[in-house]
Amino acid sequence: MRFVVTAGPTREFLDPVRFLSNPSSGKMGFAVAEEAAKSGHEVFLVAGPVNLKTPKGVKRIDVTSARDMLKAVKGVLDRDSVLVGVAAVADFRPKVKAARKLHKGEMPETIELVRNPDILASVKCRHKVGFAAETDRVLESAAGKCRRKRLGMIVANDVTRPGAGFGTDTNLASFVFPDGNVERLPIMSKRRLARKIVERISKWF
Ligand code: C5P
Repeated sequence: MRFVVTAGPTREFLDPVRFLSNPSSGKMGFAVAEEAAKSGHEVFLVAGPVNLKTPKGVKRIDVTSARDMLKAVKGVLDRDSVLVGVAAVADFRPKVKAARKLHKGEMPETIELVRNPDILASVKCRHKVGFAAETDRVLESAAGKCRRKRLGMIVANDVTRPGAGFGTDTNLASFVFPDGNVERLPIMSKRRLARKIVERISKWF
């Protein structure tokens, strides 16, 4: 099976030296890619800017912005692929990107933003799995999101909980299914959670 995994943040530049982004480290996505490769799958890892080594047996494509990430995903995804969207894709980008650094005096007081494409929602393939990092109402929003984006499952976590979320080596997550079923998992390493995700997806084949 071909797995396409997105990981890390995206950067949305305002000018060549300023961007909008988020604190995603890429650890969770890299762990999913590594575990999928260990299970014998062909793995493409589409990675935003992160400081991580490419896992063994994984083909990595580095990207910067959400639009780059979408293009790269479309380039490797086929009908029979599994797409695991672990990336923390920036939902918005500055409407205009200046070709050179804006001087302080030229900076607008407000920056106009436009919505980025939703990568998971805009592609079709055999199975899609999403992640949802939230700070409130984690489980309530996840099932709806699953249905809207036609996902088989969302891995939901409250990033405000200790040991969960950005940059940590552990995660506290729940599997949420489109019918509203929830499987709560104990706190565990991102590697172990990644293994559980790959095992769960394998049951669908
Ligand atoms: O709707 P929300 O951003 O919470 O959904 C999170 C899921 O959707 C993640 O799996 C993320 O990788 C994916 N996503 C995406 N493209 C976006 C925003 C989110 O693929 N523009």
